[in-house]
Amino acid sequence: MGNVNQAEFWQQRYEQDSIGWDMGQVSPPLKVYIDQLPEAAKEQAVLVPGAGNAYEVGYLYEQGFTNITLVDFAPAPIKDFAERYPDFPADKLICADFFDLLPKQHQFDWVLEQTFFCAINPARRDEYVQQMARLLKPKGQLVGLLFDKDFGRNEPPFGGTKEEYQQRFSTHFDTEIMEQSYNSHPARQGSELFIKMRVKD
Ligand SMILES: C[S@@+](CC[C@H](N)C(=O)[O-])C[C@H]1O[C@@H](n2cnc3c(N)ncnc32)[C@H](O)[C@@H]1O
Repeated sequence: MGNVNQAEFWQQRYEQDSIGWDMGQVSPPLKVYIDQLPEAAKEQAVLVPGAGNAYEVGYLYEQGFTNITLVDFAPAPIKDFAERYPDFPADKLICADFFDLLPKQHQFDWVLEQTFFCAINPARRDEYVQQMARLLKPKGQLVGLLFDKDFGRNEPPFGGTKEEYQQRFSTHFDTEIMEQSYNSHPARQGSELFIKMRVKD
């Protein structure tokens, strides 16, 4: 296996169309979550890191969200997204390593997590938690899905358990929701936790 810390690993997967994680649609639980947000949320700054083909970004944009930032360090899916959404603000399409984003330049009201955490090297999970907390405004939220499953392989997706996540995130986040998702995509039914966590003061 290549190095999951490197953009080249992921870029190659897109070039070879070896993207088994790609659902080709907005993740159903995230669509339901987005649909119940109040109108005022549309002005909030939202980050979608490791967005890939970014169906969630497309959906947010189509619903009228005005301040969405897409980050991925593989250029291929960003190029595709820009072709599918030619009017999407180019300065909000960021081809960069999530861990290199500078909190002084980027601050978000909430972050949408969708198969990004499971793509990073498990040895970097605490770094993920810290970086996420740094990029959020006070009271900012991390919302999304985490796998509740051990895939038993030394390659992505890297799974985990509710106990591990609770312990790991508790350093920087208060958990508001972390429970089995009832409306996952059929292929992920019973293997996802819906999470909503608020950064600690
Ligand atoms: C498993 S894919 C998921 C893509 C998308 N969220 C989805 O659900 O279809 C993981 C994505 O994260 C990106 N990625 C992995 N590590 C990254 C990092 N450190 N910084 C930015 N993007 C990263 C990869 O390029 C890839 O597009």
